[in-house]
Amino acid sequence: MFRIVEARFLGPEIKLFRIEAPAIARRQKPGQFVIVRVYEAGERIPLTIADADARAGTITIIVQGVGKTTRLLNRKEAGDFVLDVVGPLGKPSEIARYGTAVVIGGGVGTAIAHPTARALKEAGNYVVVILGARSRQYVILEDEMRRISDELYVTTDDGSQGQRGLVTDALRQMLESGRRVDYVLAIGPIPMMAAVAELTRPYGIKTVVSVNPIMVDGTGMCGGCRVQVGQENKFACVDGPEFDAHLVNFRLLATRNSMYREFEQRALAEFER
Ligand code: FES
Repeated sequence: MFRIVEARFLGPEIKLFRIEAPAIARRQKPGQFVIVRVYEAGERIPLTIADADARAGTITIIVQGVGKTTRLLNRKEAGDFVLDVVGPLGKPSEIARYGTAVVIGGGVGTAIAHPTARALKEAGNYVVVILGARSRQYVILEDEMRRISDELYVTTDDGSQGQRGLVTDALRQMLESGRRVDYVLAIGPIPMMAAVAELTRPYGIKTVVSVNPIMVDGTGMCGGCRVQVGQENKFACVDGPEFDAHLVNFRLLATRNSMYREFEQRALAEFER
């Protein structure tokens, strides 16, 4: 059992949890994730480690309540427990001194991008952060990202904060203005990551995305997290979750992620009844 030491909402159905998990806190690196099981018969959900404190023995995860399990988790408070937290899993982010690194966080993807953005800054990069969300209340970790970046831009679909539009609009403006960009990391909804990949492709900019397919075991055994990358099949849990954005088959990824949608919607409807 893993004790929750802090739980607070960052936005509608977006909740931050700090959980006691000393062994994971000591070993984790930016880009890695954990698999959480909330109760005995519950599904396993992969959640990227948004932060960790090795001295306090805690890890931070940020959960968007979109289905039955994530909504159940979001009902937990400080002092409550989650059944299992397994990790750290996956490969850490590839951190290097690229030059100008643009880090794009779409919605709750910002939580995943945050530790990698910080590591890129510590490695000596000039870090530009672009945060995108539906509207103001869905923009998360803006202050944290501002602290570890050289420039920060916010875009919202409805214009309630920052520039009205999409993260790709802000990135396009940067690229068309002739600014040099050496590396792009994009984490968020699949259509957003696919759009970023198409935008940077003609410029030949190294672009990385963090994918979040359905996972079961998290150890490369079940095949649930299969992603097509170039001509190869990769398992996001052991080969990823970060991949070369220009090689990921986003269409297949979206199809596989929606395979259980009907079942998920039924489970959510029963849970809310
Ligand atoms: Fe089973 Fe990756 S989650 S192979």
